[in-house]
Amino acid sequence: MGYSPISATAILSLLFMFSSFSEVQSTSFRIVNKCRYTVWPGILTGADRTVLTPTGFTLKSGRSKTISAPKSWSGRLWGRTLCSTDSTGKFSCVTGDCGSEKIECAGSGAIPPATLAEFTLNGDAGLDFYDVSLVDGYNLPMLVVAKGGTRGVCSSTGCLVDLNGACPAELRVARGNGNRRGVACKSACEAFGEPMYCCSEAYNTPDTCRPSVYAEYFKHACPRSYSYAYDDKTSTFTCAGADYIIIFCPKPFTSQKLLGARKEVADLPLVNKTMMYIGSRHSKGASR
Ligand SMILES: *[C@@H]1O[C@H](CO)[C@@H](O)[C@H](O)[C@H]1NC(C)=O
Repeated sequence: MGYSPISATAILSLLFMFSSFSEVQSTSFRIVNKCRYTVWPGILTGADRTVLTPTGFTLKSGRSKTISAPKSWSGRLWGRTLCSTDSTGKFSCVTGDCGSEKIECAGSGAIPPATLAEFTLNGDAGLDFYDVSLVDGYNLPMLVVAKGGTRGVCSSTGCLVDLNGACPAELRVARGNGNRRGVACKSACEAFGEPMYCCSEAYNTPDTCRPSVYAEYFKHACPRSYSYAYDDKTSTFTCAGADYIIIFCPKPFTSQKLLGARKEVADLPLVNKTMMYIGSRHSKGASR
């Protein structure tokens, strides 16, 4: 009785203003190429989510690009390497290709092997969930850094070791026949297609699918990355209100120094020091 409809409306719109205010913050991805060569990032949006564009672009060595993600975006991001356009105008890449025949992937995902950064923004309890996955293999070292998070552990994650040179021979993807330079490293699931490596059929639960020697090899080199399908416990990270920096070919030493200054609560190291030299040692021509 004491309230006029006008003031009730005013209060409601004020409340609405405040509530939408806290939702305004959007998430940005800054994608940085520290490789000595060009990388063509690809982005795939998950089903039923607003598509993040561009879905693919060129990122020259030393360059970066910032894109902002739609609210509650979910999807994956990866880097394509050794790309070119042929005489018929068809674009393709030796690693991480999405098969679109164009720079934009337009809804197609990476053909394995490819290192993947996976995100689900504004998930349970308003947290972002993110990880770097080697479940579909490996093609590039990649680091994800959460910046400005207000809640959650917000650890950095990724795989800083160059696993191409050190990749076990049976998983190695090499370019050309001559020098056999490794350009990517398959997952055991892709290389052998067996249920025990793929966590399928009788092995489709966390209890029955144990990490293989190959998964362990990846896990030792990159302790915070996903090495097989049920590797959730040590590989998924959460943060609220952050923006993310995704770096291709982070320098292991300087990255570790940079991250050493941050509050890092994750139990596992980002880099396994005993594995750190493996990439450079192997790329000097030593075979396995
Ligand atoms: C680091 O690598 C060594 C050698 O492969 C391994 O024995 C050790 O468990 C690894 N540490 C972590 C934290 O993964």
